[in-house]
Amino acid sequence: MRWLLFLLPLLFWSCNNEPSKKPTATEQLRKRTHDDHSYANLTQIYTKHLHLDLEVDFTAQTIYGVARHQMQNRGADTAIFDIKGLLIQKVTLGNKGAEKETDFTIGPMDKDSIFGQALLVNVDTKTTAVNIYYQTTEQSAALDWLDTTLTSSKTKPFLYTQGQAILTRTWIPIQDSPSNRLTYSADLKVPEDLLALMSAKNPTSLHKNGQYHFEMTKPIPSYLIALAVGDIGFKDLGHNCGVYAEKELLADCAKEFEDLPQMMRVAEQLYGAYQWGRYDVLVLPYSFPFGGMENPMLTFANPTLITGDKSLVSVLAHELAHSWSGNLVTNNSWSDLWLNEGTTVYFEQRIMEALRGKEIADVLAQVEFGELEQTLAEMRADSTLQDSKLHLDLIDRDPDIAMSDIAYVKGAFFFRSLEAEVGRNKLDAFLNRYFQHFAFRTISAHQFIDYLNEQLLKQSGSKFNYQDWIYKPGLPSNCVKISAPRLAKIATYAKEFNAGKNPFGPKIKYKWVRKNGKRKKVKQTLQIQYADQLVQEWQLFIRALSAQTKPARLRLLDRQLHFSQSNNSEILCDWFVLAAQTNYAFQIEKDIQRFLVKIGRRKYVLPIYETLASTPNGLKLARRIFHEAKNNYHSVTRTSVWRVLQEK
Ligand code: BES
Ligand code: ZN
Repeated sequence: MRWLLFLLPLLFWSCNNEPSKKPTATEQLRKRTHDDHSYANLTQIYTKHLHLDLEVDFTAQTIYGVARHQMQNRGADTAIFDIKGLLIQKVTLGNKGAEKETDFTIGPMDKDSIFGQALLVNVDTKTTAVNIYYQTTEQSAALDWLDTTLTSSKTKPFLYTQGQAILTRTWIPIQDSPSNRLTYSADLKVPEDLLALMSAKNPTSLHKNGQYHFEMTKPIPSYLIALAVGDIGFKDLGHNCGVYAEKELLADCAKEFEDLPQMMRVAEQLYGAYQWGRYDVLVLPYSFPFGGMENPMLTFANPTLITGDKSLVSVLAHELAHSWSGNLVTNNSWSDLWLNEGTTVYFEQRIMEALRGKEIADVLAQVEFGELEQTLAEMRADSTLQDSKLHLDLIDRDPDIAMSDIAYVKGAFFFRSLEAEVGRNKLDAFLNRYFQHFAFRTISAHQFIDYLNEQLLKQSGSKFNYQDWIYKPGLPSNCVKISAPRLAKIATYAKEFNAGKNPFGPKIKYKWVRKNGKRKKVKQTLQIQYADQLVQEWQLFIRALSAQTKPARLRLLDRQLHFSQSNNSEILCDWFVLAAQTNYAFQIEKDIQRFLVKIGRRKYVLPIYETLASTPNGLKLARRIFHEAKNNYHSVTRTSVWRVLQEK
């Protein structure tokens, strides 16, 4: 099959240059679905099962083969798929062994290159099997091909995919809308020394011939199809949970995530039985652009979660929670990402409360609420407050916009406020029913609202203002406030420091002790240590420091608390942002550079670049670092940073 690769560009060229039979139809076609981000004509024909027959070629950095769609056809003469950055070689109809080639056309790219192109395949009204022969390219934005230098082994390469929100179409020709669910299977050929894993039932050790078969028997939306290939080992954690990671990291990952079985028990107690069989986590290389991604049966996780002190495991609680909110019940359009993420953050907070107690869970929630307040202030400042509605207008816009503190934190506070209104017991009973009722379905905000009215508000005699929450900007006045009394201490430190004092220097105290029957005065040196407070408390401390702080004062803090050398990326991110606001950045350039070159999680790197880019010298530094770092980033992060530096 490999020789075909040489022909593929030619074939693609000819299709693409052929005057498209329906040149302007794509805009209209998009309006045929309830999804603003897919060309697929789902109301006429949709995939029920997808079988992938693919080879992963690390030398050419391509995946090639065939995507076999088993479709439900309601009398369509055209089947429309989404593609972006794919070379389509040929399309056939009929089952394997009895295939007939059919005509296809490729529509134009949308003007901002967000959605990609429509692939229009001629079918008969009775067609149920469509097979698309294709190859990925350098433009396949879902794929991150890491050469050996970027892996922890330094001897084996790595590949992983990121599908959400609309990147699956860049590695599989597919109807790429969350409003459709499909089951899938795959036959993959990968290099013999590498393990292949998917969001499906997975192997735990190498198959000698490099051939792997996968089955996902539950229907899932297309953005949850995922693949990773690398020098990966496995460790079982018990209770149907386990961890995969590059072999060098495996022991540390297993230790960090050892509470996963307990999290699973807590989650099941809260909102019902886990529906997916096993729950494993794959810790990816550092370029992974997110903290975690809830690929069913195999959450993808960022290695920055491995801190040695379990301080960031709430991300794991979040991804586990998606096994209910998001993966069982899915938003049918990205305009309602809050239905996935808001519910999940609420669920995550409840898991953390059960695991660590209310006091600590409230500190974590307070950090998130502070981020929401800052996002709202920024939106107010640049007149984009209309995007602070939970339900977003995303027509002709990149669905990436929806991934903000609005969907996540305003979404979670919607549920916290609902809890305050009807009481925890009633809300929990409602959510249990909700996950069961809509399991393996995709829903709109309207469906959610109808169910909320029927199953919770009417019975409770409540007039909860969900319309304001979902369709109006800002935060309604009934938004609950968190009171976290233990934060008073950290607030005092910040206040003192901002006033020019230093609460962290050594303090001499004298204490009376009794020794050999005599009272004696002994000298004690007391000093606040980094380990005295939670990571999240230090984050709140750093965030409360004035942007006018003199660099010398920040250096003093660094000497006492070693923020620049922290092994916790949450601290490093906040500290480097403050440094970039205050010119201190130029004294710790090397530390900032090391962080930005190594880490690819967008949430961390983007704010640092943004802050640096706000001054001329900072912008120069940012550009220099980006030049060195960009090849280490997944396209999601690279594109976002590039936009920030480009706009300047
Ligand atoms: N599903 C998201 C990641 C995502 C959302 C990717 C939208 C693309 C589009 C994942 O569950 C997530 O929310 N990750 C967060 C974790 C955090 C909120 C605990 C992240 O990566 O920061
Ligand atoms: Zn999430």
